[in-house]
Amino acid sequence: MASRSYFSYLLVVLIVLILMPPSSQLQSSQAWTLLRLQRLLNFPFGLTSWDSRTDFCNAEPNPLVTVVCYEESITQLHINGNNSSSRLPKSFPIDSFFTTLTRLPNLKVLSLTSLGLWGPIPAKISRLSSLEILNMSSNLLDGTIPSEISHLKNLQTLILDHNILGGRLPEWIGSFPLMAVLSVKNNALNGPLPVSLSSLVSLRLLVLSFNAFSGPMPDLSCLANLQVLDLESNYFGPQFPSLSKKVVKLVMRNNSFKGGIPSELSSYYLLQQVDISSNRFVGPFMPSLLSLPSIQSINISGNRFTGMLFPNTSCNDELKDVDFSSNLLTGSLPTCLSSRSKDAIVLYSGNCLTNKDQIQHPNSFCQNQAFAVDLLPRKEKKTSVHKAIVAVSVVGAVVVALIVAFLLFTAIRREQAKSVVKRPPRRLIEHASNGYPSKLLADARYISQTMKLGALGIPSYRSFSLDELEAATNNFDTTTFIGEGSLGQMYRGKLRDGSIVAIRCLKLKKQHTSQNFNRHIELISKLRHRHLVSALGHCFEYYLEDSSVSTLFLVFEYVSNGTLRSNISGQKLSWTQRIAAAIGVAKGIQFLHAGIIPGVFANDLTITNVLMDHNLVAKISSYNLPVLAEIKAEVMVGTTFGSKEHVRRTLHEEKIDIYDFGVILLEIISGRPITTRIDAKLLKEQLQESITADGAARRRSIVDPVLGKACCSDSLKTVIEICIRCISEEPAERPSVEDVLWNLQFAAQVQEAWRGDSNSSEDSPLSPHTPALRSSDD
Ligand SMILES: *[C@@H]1O[C@H](CO)[C@@H](O)[C@H](O)[C@H]1NC(C)=O
Ligand SMILES: *[C@@H]1O[C@H](CO)[C@@H](O)[C@H](O)[C@H]1NC(C)=O
Ligand SMILES: *[C@@H]1O[C@H](CO)[C@@H](O)[C@H](O)[C@H]1NC(C)=O
Ligand SMILES: *[C@@H]1O[C@H](CO)[C@@H](O)[C@H](O)[C@H]1NC(C)=O
Ligand SMILES: *[C@@H]1O[C@H](CO)[C@@H](O)[C@H](O)[C@H]1NC(C)=O
Ligand SMILES: *[C@@H]1O[C@H](CO)[C@@H](O)[C@H](O)[C@H]1NC(C)=O
Repeated sequence: MASRSYFSYLLVVLIVLILMPPSSQLQSSQAWTLLRLQRLLNFPFGLTSWDSRTDFCNAEPNPLVTVVCYEESITQLHINGNNSSSRLPKSFPIDSFFTTLTRLPNLKVLSLTSLGLWGPIPAKISRLSSLEILNMSSNLLDGTIPSEISHLKNLQTLILDHNILGGRLPEWIGSFPLMAVLSVKNNALNGPLPVSLSSLVSLRLLVLSFNAFSGPMPDLSCLANLQVLDLESNYFGPQFPSLSKKVVKLVMRNNSFKGGIPSELSSYYLLQQVDISSNRFVGPFMPSLLSLPSIQSINISGNRFTGMLFPNTSCNDELKDVDFSSNLLTGSLPTCLSSRSKDAIVLYSGNCLTNKDQIQHPNSFCQNQAFAVDLLPRKEKKTSVHKAIVAVSVVGAVVVALIVAFLLFTAIRREQAKSVVKRPPRRLIEHASNGYPSKLLADARYISQTMKLGALGIPSYRSFSLDELEAATNNFDTTTFIGEGSLGQMYRGKLRDGSIVAIRCLKLKKQHTSQNFNRHIELISKLRHRHLVSALGHCFEYYLEDSSVSTLFLVFEYVSNGTLRSNISGQKLSWTQRIAAAIGVAKGIQFLHAGIIPGVFANDLTITNVLMDHNLVAKISSYNLPVLAEIKAEVMVGTTFGSKEHVRRTLHEEKIDIYDFGVILLEIISGRPITTRIDAKLLKEQLQESITADGAARRRSIVDPVLGKACCSDSLKTVIEICIRCISEEPAERPSVEDVLWNLQFAAQVQEAWRGDSNSSEDSPLSPHTPALRSSDD
C-alpha cells in the first residue's frame, strides 16, 4: 500500500514535471547567484526589486533587466545600468564578480552594460563556455582583451564598446567561425589589425571606430556577409580596404587613407551609406557613386578629390545626404542635387564649383592644388606619372647640375672680378605676349646659348638641412601636405627667404650611403631650365643606427598657376600666349634631349604635366628621373639600387616626346581636352582636311572658338601643320625638336606682325588676307 501510494506520488511529480513549462523553475543555486550579483553590482537601479522571493524566470522583462531560463537554468542575463558614467566603488571585486557569473554555466547571452564595471576582464570568463553573445559596452573595463575569450568557441557577437581597453586586437580573434558581430568602438586599442580578421567568414558587422588602430586593413574581400564596416577615427591607411561588393554601410572618416578610391566602389550595389571624409584621398571623384541603386548618404568632405561635376549627372532617388565640402572639385553641381527637397542635406563649400551659394575657391585654387596631386604617380598611368615625377626630379637634377656648373663658373669668375654676386631669384621675365618676335629665330639657332640662359633666374642648386625643411613645412604638418605617391609624400614649404617650394620625400630601405646617390644627385642638380619645374636642392635624412640614408628629400620650385590645360580652358589664353607656351614646352624638351648628357627621353609629356607660372611661362613638371625609377624598382621587386646606367637609347627615342608634344599642340589649337590616342587621331584627320580643302571655314569649326577673331590665319596654319607632323604614326616622319621650334617661332612672328597690322583696321580673324611674311596658299 505504502509502496503503491509512493509510486502514484512519484507519477504525479513526474507528470507535473513534464507538464511544467521548462522555464518556470530555477535551481535555487542560480537564484542565489543572481542575488549575489545584485550585491556585487551595488544594487543597481534595475535590480532594486530583486529579493529571495523573486520568481526570476517569470519576471516581466524590461530594458534594464531580463532573465531567460531554460530547463532550470539561466540562459540569458541582461543587466543594464541607466547611467553610463557611473563607476562601481573602489572595492568592486571584478574577479569575484566573474567567478559568481560562472555559476550560471548555461549562459548563452550576457549583457552587462553601463554598470560601472571596472578593471581588467578576468581570465575566468573562459568558463562561460556556452556564451554566444557578450555585450559589455559602456563600462570602465581596462587592460587588454584576454586571450581566454578565445576559448568561447560559440561566440557570435562580441561587443566591448565604450570601455578603456588597450593593446592590440589579438590574432586569435580570427578563430571564431561563427562570429557575426565584432564591435570595439571607442576604446584605446591600437596597432595594426590581425590578418586573421579575413577568416571571420560569418562577420556581418565590424566596428573598430574611435580607437588608435593603424596600418593597412587586412584583405576583407572574402567576408561575403560583411554589411557594416566602421573604421572612423583611427589611423588606418593608406590603401583603400578591399571588401566584398555587398557592403551596406562603409565609414572610414578621419583616418590616414590616401591615394585614389577604387573604381569597384561604383559596383557596390547594396551600398547605402559611405563616409570617407577627412582622409587624404586624391584623384578623381566618381560621379557614378551618386547613382548607386541603394545609396542614401555620401560624405567625401575634407579630401583632395579632383574632377569636374556636370549638371546632367544623375542621382539615386533616395540620396538624402551629400557632403562634398573641402575638396578640389570643379564644374557645377549636378542638378539632381541642387534641386533636392528641403530635408536633404547637400554641402559643397570649399571647392571650385560654379554654384556660389556655398563659399567656393577660385578655379585656379583647385587647379593649383590638383597640380600638386597630379605631380604624383597615379595608378592607372604608372609609368607616365612616375616618370613624370622622376622626370621632374631628374630633369630638375640634370638641369640643376648643368646650371650649377655654369653658375659656379660665372660666380667664381665674377667673384674674382670682385663683383659679388648675390642671387635673389631675379627672374628673367620674358613676357609671353611680347619679346619673341625678332629674337626668336636667332635663339633657335643658338641652342647652347639658350641652354645657358635657360636656367637664369632659378636659385642655385644646393643641399638643404633637415632643420630647414622642417621649418619650411612646420614639421611636415598635414596642412602643408600636397600629395602622395607610392614612393612618398609631397609637401609645400616656405623657405626662410619666403620662396615657396615643393618638397618630395622619398623613403628608402636601409643600406644606401649617400654616396650611392652621387650620380643621381649630379643628374638632378642639372635639371634646371626656365621651362622645367626645376630642382633647387636635396637633403638626406639618415637612420640613427648605421647612418644609411632613410629619406631623400628633393626640393623643387613650386609652380602655382595651374596646368597648361587649365590655363587654356579657364583663363582662355590668347593665341599669342598659346604659341609662347608651346615654344616653352618645346624648349624644355630640347633641353631634356640635348641640353644634358645623357639626355632624358620618353618623358610622358601631357598637357596636365605642363605647369604655368605667374608670368605664364610654361614649365614641364614631368620628366623621366632615373632615381625615382630605381627607388620604385627597389620597393617593388627588391632589385638593388644604383645598378647599371639604364638610359639605353632606342631608335627614335626622341620622337616619343615629339608625338606627345603634338597632342599638347592639338589641345592648344582646339581648346578641347584630348584624352585618348583615338581622340588625337580623329582630330588630326579633321585638321588635315581643314588645311588641304578650302580651309578657313572648316578650320574655324575645329579651332577653339575663344581664339575667334584674334588669331591670324597663317599663324594658325603653321601651327596646325607642325602639329600634324608631330602626330605622325611613323616616328621617323615626326619633325625634330629644332624643326618644331623654328616653325612655332615663325608662327609667333607672323601673328605678331598681323596684330600690328590689324590694330589699325578691324579685320576678320581667320580671313586669309593679312599675313605678313608668308603668302596665303588657301
Ligand atoms: C537612473 O537611476 C537613478 C537611481 O539610481 C534614478 O533616480 C534615475 O531616475 C534613473 N534615471 C533614468 C533615466 O531612468
Ligand atoms: C551618473 O553617474 C555619475 C557618476 O556616478 C553622476 O555624477 C551622475 O549624476 C549620474 N547621472 C544620473 C542621471 O544619475
Ligand atoms: C549592447 O549594449 C548596448 C548598451 O545597452 C546597446 O545599446 C546595444 O544595442 C547592445 N548591442 C547588442 C547587439 O545587443
Ligand atoms: C580623428 O581621429 C583621431 C584618432 O582617433 C582622434 O584623435 C581625433 O580626435 C579625430 N578627430 C575628429 C575630428 O574626430
Ligand atoms: C561629413 O564629415 C565631416 C567630418 O569628416 C563632418 O564634419 C560633416 O558633418 C559630415 N557631413 C554630413 C552631411 O554628415
Ligand atoms: C553630360 O554633359 C557633359 C558635358 O556637358 C557631356 O560630356 C556628357 O556626355 C553628358 N553626359 C550625359 C550622360 O548626358
